[in-house]
Amino acid sequence: MERTLVMIKPDGVKRNIIGEIISIFEKNNLKVITIKKSRLSKDAAKAFYIVHKDKPFYESLTDYISSGPIIVMVLEGENAIEKVRKIIGATDPQQAEEGSIRKLFGINKEMNTIHGSDSLESAKKEISFFFSEYELISAE
Ligand code: RTP
Ligand code: MG
Repeated sequence: MERTLVMIKPDGVKRNIIGEIISIFEKNNLKVITIKKSRLSKDAAKAFYIVHKDKPFYESLTDYISSGPIIVMVLEGENAIEKVRKIIGATDPQQAEEGSIRKLFGINKEMNTIHGSDSLESAKKEISFFFSEYELISAE
């Protein structure tokens, strides 16, 4: 079993589609281990997306991610990291596969509704960015 971090970005929380999104994961055999609503400061958003610090979209991305509440959750399942990335779809909703979350709900390449960890290493890092060991153990 594998675990991954999923974030519903501010555009998704604002449009009241948290339930619809979680339902897609559940139908795909992924289990919510723990979940919470949060809001990132600009500095916290910059830390979360530090891998993109040299990209031209870093400022705009971190403004957007810190613009409103988000939902973060740990999902567990067989091959969860790759599976979630597939369910989420390509970064740009216009290029995303039919039926993927970004195709269904994404607004544009930046406001694309959702994030999922892209590797085992980033999943570990991102889960511990949002959830303490205590939170994870007590959610078992
Ligand atoms: P994520 O990390 O959020 O799951 O998205 P991703 O792997 O599909 O895409 P990534 O390249 O890691 O980019 C992170 C987020 O930055 C915003 N972005 N904007 N304006 C642009 O060209 C652009 N490119 C990326 C998106 O919100 C993207 O999800
Ligand atoms: Mg990424």
